[in-house]
Amino acid sequence: MKKLVLAAAMAVLPAIGFGAEGETVTIDPPAEGSVSREDGLLAWARIYEVTSHPRCSNCHVGEDNFPMWSGPSYGKARRHGMNINAGESRIGAEYVPCATCHAWREEGGNDAPHMAPQVAMNWQLAPVEAAWFGKSSAEICNQLRDPERNGDRTYLDIAGHLDHDLILHWAWTPGGGREPAPYSLQEHVNDVLAWGVAGMPCENDE
Ligand code: HEC
Ligand code: HEC
Repeated sequence: MKKLVLAAAMAVLPAIGFGAEGETVTIDPPAEGSVSREDGLLAWARIYEVTSHPRCSNCHVGEDNFPMWSGPSYGKARRHGMNINAGESRIGAEYVPCATCHAWREEGGNDAPHMAPQVAMNWQLAPVEAAWFGKSSAEICNQLRDPERNGDRTYLDIAGHLDHDLILHWAWTPGGGREPAPYSLQEHVNDVLAWGVAGMPCENDE
């Protein structure tokens, strides 16, 4: 009986759009010791293609707090129009809050070009420590394996986070003529797991 109630509650969750729906991918790490450093670095190279892609890096920007408009649908890369500045709050609290335009709408709001993506309650810039825009493969690699700068996450936590974040589901199905992030969410999660099991190698290691 308990089980049934839980299942019913979970079925309702996505409809009201709270929290951590997701759970759309399988988190199944390879066995310890089964991924060589070389294969770990190959997995990293694919992870870098994703993390440096505009659907990710436009929000993963540095301490100037300017979201970016970049990628094929924007032409030349530039700062977010309309003088948007996320401030130190990273949500625009000091100026115009991101949610003014990036509200959450159940029916989406992303199919027409040049609409503000409306896919999550908490549309905001990623933390400054996770700045990826314009960064090299080695720079992002070292950030992502550093607990001081990655939100104190193990590679398993990172893989779980990837599935639990609505913004990430959007990045692979953005609509509105935007180019999706490369590979798929499942392939990206698999790469994070393989890179983790290989010991999170970066190309600048000895
Ligand atoms: C709308 C802005 C936005 C976009 C787009 C975005 N992120 Fe993020 N990202 C965030 C925020 C906010 C956090 C902090 C959330 C937290 O720590 O719970 C975050 C944190 C992360 C983290 C946690 C580890 C760390 O270093 O902080 C990972 C991994 C991540 N994002 C991956 C991605 C990937 C991969 C993409 C593209 C497929 C992406 N993000 C696109 C806003 C964004
Ligand atoms: C006045 C309305 C408005 C506000 C406020 C606003 N945005 Fe936007 N944002 C837009 C519009 C419109 C687009 C889409 C532009 C296009 O596709 O040509 C957009 C696009 C973006 C993109 C690019 C998404 C992609 O990869 O294509 C990011 C990142 C972004 N906004 C972040 C933010 C953040 C962070 C804030 C708060 C600090 C914010 N925006 C506040 C209207 C707004």
